Amino acid sequence: MSDRLRKYRVAVFVSGGGSNLQSLIDASARGDLNSRIELVLSNNPNAFGLERAKQSGIDTFVSVDEDKILSCLEKYQIDRIVLAGYLKVIGNKILDRYSNRIINIHPSLLPKFGGKGMYGIHVHEAVFAAGEKVSGATVHFVTPLVDGGEILIQEQTDISNCGSPKEIQEKVLELEHKIIVEAVKILEEI
Ligand code: GRF
Repeated sequence: MSDRLRKYRVAVFVSGGGSNLQSLIDASARGDLNSRIELVLSNNPNAFGLERAKQSGIDTFVSVDEDKILSCLEKYQIDRIVLAGYLKVIGNKILDRYSNRIINIHPSLLPKFGGKGMYGIHVHEAVFAAGEKVSGATVHFVTPLVDGGEILIQEQTDISNCGSPKEIQEKVLELEHKIIVEAVKILEEI
């Protein structure tokens, strides 16, 4: 599908490696999405996700100032926001402006192992310490309650043979790369 005809203009927020962003970039390049990633935003100027965006010709913006972020989103006429490994809490001005149009991917079966302090490897350390036999990934709408929004899609995977939090993280990340694309597709339909 030609970019010109894409329905939604998406901004992806990253803070780190951006492998979930890459899944979206690849899906868009395959023509699997009716959305176009117009902007990649980060709080971290060294986020490799910014490099991934540049390699794909996608504009980037780095800031921690909510007003500057909001004006950038408006300049790009963004209508959907995907948080993909973004480690800052979204401010109320952005939450109000993009109500029910911001999604976040979290590497556990929410509501388990969500909330304050539950990010990155810490999630998998808690899952491992709890002796869980399954884990997974969740995409949910973003609300003022961290990791508390309505769930859009969730998928689980067997981790009974994982010997470390790192192994769990690797297994869950594969799942994330799949459901983040499915979540954007669902968002296109609602
Ligand atoms: C992923 O595990 C995601 O669930 C979490 O942060 C990690 C980001 O990975 N929010 P990447 O930057 O997309 O590679």
